[in-house]
Amino acid sequence: MPHILFDKFNKELVSSSTNDEFTFNFVATSYNFTNKIRKTEYKICVNKENKEFLLTLKNKDEKFLLKSDKVTRVTPVQIIKDSLNEYAKAIEANILFSNTQNFNQKVKPTQKYLKDIDYFINDFNTEKEIQIEIGFGSGRHLLHQAKENPKVQFIGLEIHTPSIEQLLKQVQIQELDNILVVNYDARLFMEFINSNKVGKIFVHFPVPWDKKPHRRIYSNEFINEALRILKLDGTLELRTDSRKYFDYCSELLTNLNTGRITIDINKDLPISSKYEDRWKKQGKNIYDVILSCNQEDEDISLDFDFTFQEDINYDEIISIISTKAVVEDDYFIHIEDLFTIEGKENSGLIQVTFGSFDRPLSKYILIDNKKAKYFQDLPLPTSSNLKAHNKLKEMLKK
Ligand SMILES: C[S@@+](CC[C@H](N)C(=O)[O-])C[C@H]1O[C@@H](n2cnc3c(N)ncnc32)[C@H](O)[C@@H]1O
Repeated sequence: MPHILFDKFNKELVSSSTNDEFTFNFVATSYNFTNKIRKTEYKICVNKENKEFLLTLKNKDEKFLLKSDKVTRVTPVQIIKDSLNEYAKAIEANILFSNTQNFNQKVKPTQKYLKDIDYFINDFNTEKEIQIEIGFGSGRHLLHQAKENPKVQFIGLEIHTPSIEQLLKQVQIQELDNILVVNYDARLFMEFINSNKVGKIFVHFPVPWDKKPHRRIYSNEFINEALRILKLDGTLELRTDSRKYFDYCSELLTNLNTGRITIDINKDLPISSKYEDRWKKQGKNIYDVILSCNQEDEDISLDFDFTFQEDINYDEIISIISTKAVVEDDYFIHIEDLFTIEGKENSGLIQVTFGSFDRPLSKYILIDNKKAKYFQDLPLPTSSNLKAHNKLKEMLKK
């Protein structure tokens, strides 16, 4: 992580100060909840080329550490290094150590088919039928399907980075152009896909999680989201060697009000995965449970309102707000820290982690003279994030 260590500085930079390229908008000081005193940690707001982000300044053992902030993101990393250097220069710091010099760095080639979740929220659009494979592992099945069905747009979901890298290599070697890969928890991904668009969802040999069933891919919520994004006659296809997982899913699926389910035992598929080969050698049964969608759903809107309409009295909030996490069934909120903006009334940053338990989000809420907004960009438009946002609004009203 880029950082600068120094022991003295000659100039205080607390309010905005501009040079040719950088503006330091404010300095905010951490507020310690436990002792109700100010800690020696600061957030410095930087603006460069319309990108706004924070730096962290910590004071320890009569030395100062200036580094990037973990929550606010900005690319390329050179912007952070330049701003650290610029701030140290502006306060005339006596530098003891720094790793922010500009070295020629090898830039990784962009992974054309590896997409982040923002791409699916803002840019993804296709006229082709979509098929999704959840937890593709070695990718044998996904690659086979993509080769056999060039007119279908495949989306592969995986959380294991080496599997993703392996698949991307094969996509390149086999010159396939109809697979997009996302490193994202499959249970949360479907919220970003429009209704009635997907032909098939494959879930092959999911981790059975016999001791922690709450971590399984299949749940009532997952099945309902799958049915929403599936087209009429689209299918959700489970293949598993685990009798317990098969029983669990069969029970969930047969509790649906409507639907068609087919079950096969030891069905042969044209391609066999690494796991499948292993289970077959051990003589285990393989179960297929296929749910066909017989409903059409209304489209969803990702146009969630993440604004704060009402004024927030920051100076009052700091003395009463609790750092105890609020935990509800499908979301939580944890206020991590508060940073009071120097020289300005009713202004500060609230550092908060919130949203779903599987994909928590860290953000700052910037309060500028009682007006609040999320610092940098808005939270991802998920139902858990929206519920957490609405609860936060309530908590900040007091
Ligand atoms: C037992 S492996 C099966 C891999 C492959 N489908 C096969 O048949 O060989 C399960 C895979 O699911 C992935 N996985 C587990 N939980 C996931 C989740 N919530 N979202 C996406 N992938 C997940 C794991 O990383 C792992 O690669």
